Amino acid sequence: MQESDSPKLYNVAIVGATGVVGQQLLRILTTRSFPLGNLTLFASRRSAGKKITFGETEIEVEEIGPRSFRGVDLVFISATDEISRSVGQAAAKAGAVVIDDSGVWRMEANVPLVVPEVNPGDVAHHEGILAIPNCATTPIVMALWPLHKVNPVKRVVVATYQSVSGTGRAAVKELAEQTRRVLQNQRAAPHVYPHQIANNVLPEIGSFKDDGYTSEEWKVAVETRKIMHEPELAISATCVRVPVYVGHCAAVHAEFTSPMDAERAQALLLEAPGITVQDDTSISLYPQPKTSAGRDEVFVGRIRQDSSHPNGLVFWAVCDNLRKGAALNALQIAEEMISQGVI
Ligand SMILES: NC(=O)c1ccc[n+]([C@@H]2O[C@H](COP(=O)([O-])OP(=O)(O)OC[C@H]3O[C@@H](n4cnc5c(N)ncnc54)[C@H](OP(=O)(O)O)[C@@H]3O)[C@@H](O)[C@H]2O)c1
Repeated sequence: MQESDSPKLYNVAIVGATGVVGQQLLRILTTRSFPLGNLTLFASRRSAGKKITFGETEIEVEEIGPRSFRGVDLVFISATDEISRSVGQAAAKAGAVVIDDSGVWRMEANVPLVVPEVNPGDVAHHEGILAIPNCATTPIVMALWPLHKVNPVKRVVVATYQSVSGTGRAAVKELAEQTRRVLQNQRAAPHVYPHQIANNVLPEIGSFKDDGYTSEEWKVAVETRKIMHEPELAISATCVRVPVYVGHCAAVHAEFTSPMDAERAQALLLEAPGITVQDDTSISLYPQPKTSAGRDEVFVGRIRQDSSHPNGLVFWAVCDNLRKGAALNALQIAEEMISQGVI
């Protein structure tokens, strides 16, 4: 075989390889037939030298330096906002394509914000940096899109129930530690969240804005509009943190242009890529974080007519926030770019 016939392999760097999303990305990479060349892992100085198992090999974690991205084709960033800002720019300047998980780049006009099942065409318009949505936005747009294509959605009211892994490794540890203390009748002091999260529910994700919404609620609204190319879509969110380790849920109330029959909606969702319908109330079958964790799909159930509006539909959507909500979606963006030949 001539060399030009060999499939191209892509040199990949993961920034934040020791975090909950970075770890998930490594796991997913071993299970998909991604054309992987060299793989380099970065984290903070604290982790430099640490060895991470990847398939049959061990890779040493490095600290980012001025030449880190030479010869790298693709950089996945799952670290801090500051790193996304500085490293994102530097890596793109060095010629790599950056797929960023933070909120830093998402709303920039020249940065495609992509869920490949919804707006795959947008990957072609990148200028070096692409972004994944917030992990609460992804299940909402995934479930709305197949319905919107046949009966445009006019207004969405959503309440989310988001797991602690959405905040990262420190929050997972905090829930575990607080749960242990609560069960022993000990005081469970909060560090990551403003209040105890064990045995509690907090209607505060991100920071409060002047209009009373939180930054997370604002992200759900503006990101949904951008991904669906519907700048005028009316959408209002309440985002809530719940004491669950993995899995984000959303109770979605959507108003369509004309009546949306629940059976028709279910049929459309059954055909939609990346969606699994779990909807049989006679056996209490509906999506749950527990059964969605570790899975790739967005699960949808409790699909019913909204009794308060003739064009309204209500449903419940759940996904693994670390997989489809983050690492998997990022990898699917790369795969989409490869298949479109835009990397
Ligand atoms: N968690 C989710 O469900 C989710 C979903 C969508 C998007 N995101 C986004 O993904 C990103 C990562 O989130 P996460 O939940 O994985 O957080 P995490 O568990 O706290 O992990 C953070 C990662 O960033 C690394 N890091 C910190 N400072 C660094 C530095 N100066 N240089 C290089 N690496 C550094 C950490 O390395 P050390 O181990 O060395 O500290 C660790 O690998 C965030 O932008 C978040 O908004 C998360």
